[in-house]
Amino acid sequence: MHAGPKFSELTTVAIDAVRQAGAILRKGFGTNYKIELKPGIQNYVTEYDYASEKLIIEIIQNHYPSHSFLGEECGSIPNDNSEILWIIDPLDGTTNFAHHIPLFCISLGAYNHKEMVSGVIYQPITDELFVAEKGQGSYLNGKRLQVSNTVSFKGGMGATGFPRNIIENPLHCIDHFINILKTGTIIRNIGSSAINLAYVAAGRFDAYWAISLHSWDIAAGKLLIEEAGGKMTTYLGKEYDVLSNAPIVATNSLIHEELLSFLKLNV
Ligand code: IPD
Ligand code: CA
Ligand code: CA
Repeated sequence: MHAGPKFSELTTVAIDAVRQAGAILRKGFGTNYKIELKPGIQNYVTEYDYASEKLIIEIIQNHYPSHSFLGEECGSIPNDNSEILWIIDPLDGTTNFAHHIPLFCISLGAYNHKEMVSGVIYQPITDELFVAEKGQGSYLNGKRLQVSNTVSFKGGMGATGFPRNIIENPLHCIDHFINILKTGTIIRNIGSSAINLAYVAAGRFDAYWAISLHSWDIAAGKLLIEEAGGKMTTYLGKEYDVLSNAPIVATNSLIHEELLSFLKLNV
């Protein structure tokens, strides 16, 4: 299987790291793993989240000993000599993984001078490798990706997710969901923000919107979407900073304004 065109060394290292970490997750999936609860509601972490992250960092450090990292489980590992920050979600969809549901992935992105330069998302069970490099396009298992050409969200298919404190209706997310649901749009909640973003890039979903995400959930997906012709902004339509943790709207770009109109912060 081909990963795409001739990518930079940075992207090639990222591909190698997610494939190797993916093999660990694939092997462990469905076994009797150790599960811990992190602070918050049903916020799980398994021994495989840690194992995947450790391996990814080791592989990258072997090539680039002075690079910096921001990982979901390890936090920030800064290095003053580095221009590159690797943003890692070693297992996105941990709740699915913990429930033996095969919908999870690894998300790994390289950030340089305030922009994403490489992004890879790997689904180990389906063996789907999504790769984007700045200026080179987005690919799924070597095939160029293009976002969907749906022009009205009302006839489309989107995805969202709910924060763990949904009961508090933060940022009116329940109201937004109901308003969009009432348009008749098909909406999925599959439990992995990175897969949702990869699917928007692949044209499988027309849009994804969510609040309470972190840099590691969205970094690689942002580049995948943009390189496939889509758009990702805040709920106010502003340019998205991957280090901001702001609410995100990601679309095929054609329906962006329409979806934004449903996501006004005050309903
Ligand atoms: C979670 C997933 C989920 C999203 C949550 C994330 P994790 O990541 O991406 O789709 O709704 O907000 O925390 O914990 O499985 O890496
Ligand atoms: Ca995540
Ligand atoms: Ca995770």
